[in-house]
Amino acid sequence: MISEHPPRNLPPHRVHSPVVEAVETAIEISDVSKSFGHNRVLDGVSLKIRKGSIAVMLGPSGTGKSVLLRCIVGLLKPDRGQVKVFGEDVAALNPHRAADRAKLFAVRRRIGMLFQDGALFDDMTVGDNIAFPMRMHTKLSEAKIREAVADKLARVGLRGVEPKFPSELSGGMRKRVAFARAIALEPDIVLCDEPSSGLDPVMASTLDELILHLHQTLGMTFVVISHDTAEALKIADTMGLLYRGKLLTFGPKEEVMRTNHPGLRQFFARETAGPIKVV
Ligand SMILES: Nc1ncnc2c1ncn2[C@@H]1O[C@H](COP(=O)(O)OP(=O)(O)OP(=O)(O)O)[C@@H](O)[C@H]1O
Ligand SMILES: [Mg+2]
Repeated sequence: MISEHPPRNLPPHRVHSPVVEAVETAIEISDVSKSFGHNRVLDGVSLKIRKGSIAVMLGPSGTGKSVLLRCIVGLLKPDRGQVKVFGEDVAALNPHRAADRAKLFAVRRRIGMLFQDGALFDDMTVGDNIAFPMRMHTKLSEAKIREAVADKLARVGLRGVEPKFPSELSGGMRKRVAFARAIALEPDIVLCDEPSSGLDPVMASTLDELILHLHQTLGMTFVVISHDTAEALKIADTMGLLYRGKLLTFGPKEEVMRTNHPGLRQFFARETAGPIKVV
């Protein structure tokens, strides 16, 4: 695990610290399987996500995409395999052991997560929701936290909604608040579970541009789950297709598009006939 964060004003390819260069891989998943009872949801998944890349994971509903993200952040433990985040195998950490808990906490400090359903705290205002990770992980003053909350809300086009409760917002607004919370700590990795679902096309595009901007200015690594092929083409440099717990294809976007796996072709053409079956 690296002990330093890269300088925040440089994109990752311009960072020349030997410490940083030694760790080029943000996430490395090796042979991960996960079952719930007899339902094998992930079946020997292996992939590597380079630091500073935007990896978009496509795949039909119920195929294990959200489960994979939960394994990366250590909320679910795979039955088999390794999930290395900046070299730390989070799958091997036991949250009931103090030493492991500290390591898990340190890894989570570097990850922001946008859950598929937003997962906002309903009994907290929007401002407190976004401030939550800052209060938990930093010693920033309340004034600085207020400033950072306002900045994050402005970035998602929601200036001034701090005092509102999640129940007072539209679904799309809640999603954007959840995104603002995910980037609150300006984490090294942001995991986004369907960031654009429920948003109108203009707002979805605005969020895509924000992802690209954060990637370019702060060098954040993104893993984005999406059903939107246009979004995938716009933001991804790395693309994958998960189907029934297996990665059908994964790699640099151009290569993946050139290889044109029949499942991916079906996905892009929105066809019902092909290797991806509904049942
Ligand atoms: N905590 C859990 N307990 C039992 N089964 C689960 C649990 N979480 C997920 N599953 C099952 O794992 C499978 C994959 O779920 P997952 O949420 O990863 O799908 P997904 O690819 O994200 O789908 P969608 O595109 O609809 O969000 C489903 O069959 C689901 O029922
Ligand atoms: Mg999902």
